Amino acid sequence: MAPTAVIETMPSSPTPTQNPSQTQSVPYLFALHGKTIAITGGGRGLGMSLAFAVIEAGGHVACLDILPAPSEQEWASLQKLANVSNLTISYHQCDVTSEIETTNKLETIAQEATTKGAPFSGIVACAGIQQQVPALEYDAQDFERILRVNVTGSFLTAKRAARIFVDQKQGGSIVLIASMSGQIANRGLTCTAYNASKSAVHQMCRSVAQEWGTHGIRVNTLSPGQYIKTDMTNALLDANPEVEKIWMAGALLGRLGTPEDFKAPAVFLLSEGSSFMTGADLRVDGGHCASA
Ligand SMILES: NC(=O)c1ccc[n+]([C@@H]2O[C@H](COP(=O)([O-])OP(=O)(O)OC[C@H]3O[C@@H](n4cnc5c(N)ncnc54)[C@H](O)[C@@H]3O)[C@@H](O)[C@H]2O)c1
Repeated sequence: MAPTAVIETMPSSPTPTQNPSQTQSVPYLFALHGKTIAITGGGRGLGMSLAFAVIEAGGHVACLDILPAPSEQEWASLQKLANVSNLTISYHQCDVTSEIETTNKLETIAQEATTKGAPFSGIVACAGIQQQVPALEYDAQDFERILRVNVTGSFLTAKRAARIFVDQKQGGSIVLIASMSGQIANRGLTCTAYNASKSAVHQMCRSVAQEWGTHGIRVNTLSPGQYIKTDMTNALLDANPEVEKIWMAGALLGRLGTPEDFKAPAVFLLSEGSSFMTGADLRVDGGHCASA
């Protein structure tokens, strides 16, 4: 189903060139006007929903994904929204585990962003993979594949974006999509490599935030939880349908998550509203981690 887009109710936010009192107003603090935001894993699922969020917040968006093309219906809907908002979207096939590909695609995105007068200012590293294998049977190659995409891929994405932000001398915001699984072991799932990879993303965030803060680059993790209904979790549920009952037992709000639940948190981390926040984790899990 295509993500829902809300355009009629968008506040008219001031542009960054307006006076200081306007630039401190809440609509401005939560806006992405005059910015280009890149999203890895933006071909479908959570990444695609976050692309809608960026457009709704007034930013231009560039999606990168290993898929040859984005999810057709959603992309058409995103294009329509961008057109009426006078914003641009672009799609770039890219394997985030390849440093050459990631470098080339992000350089292209940054150049195009500069040309259109909306500098590349933020990135969401959302590309990720999941796998369920009992730890006693986990094959080393499979384990390393999960780490390569979720950890090395997120690092290469962040590293190249940060290099561009340093060269542009305007700072930037990097949002690494981690997971509540980086902090807890999910009951009913055997996902050691995935959980370990997301823990590594949390620590990577703190490490690079510590190195890049003096360049005005903020790095934070957004940790979804309570299971978002996407292709990734649908595959887990198909293999193990009874797990949904276990998940619902920890659902303090009585429901699982949807990709839309992460739109406002992601925009907050990308926008000026979070300008004093770096090296932090924003966990959005429907209360799942709050109860044992
Ligand atoms: N769905 C959940 O419940 C949940 C919970 C916590 C965290 N997350 C995280 O959210 C992110 C998005 O997950 P999703 O649920 O939308 O899953 P998804 O499988 O629908 O989307 C992941 C996207 O990443 C892309 N991708 C995979 N490997 C890639 C690579 N090497 N290079 C570039 N792109 C690649 C896929 O093609 C896909 O479009 C992941 O990082 C995931 O770990 C999801």
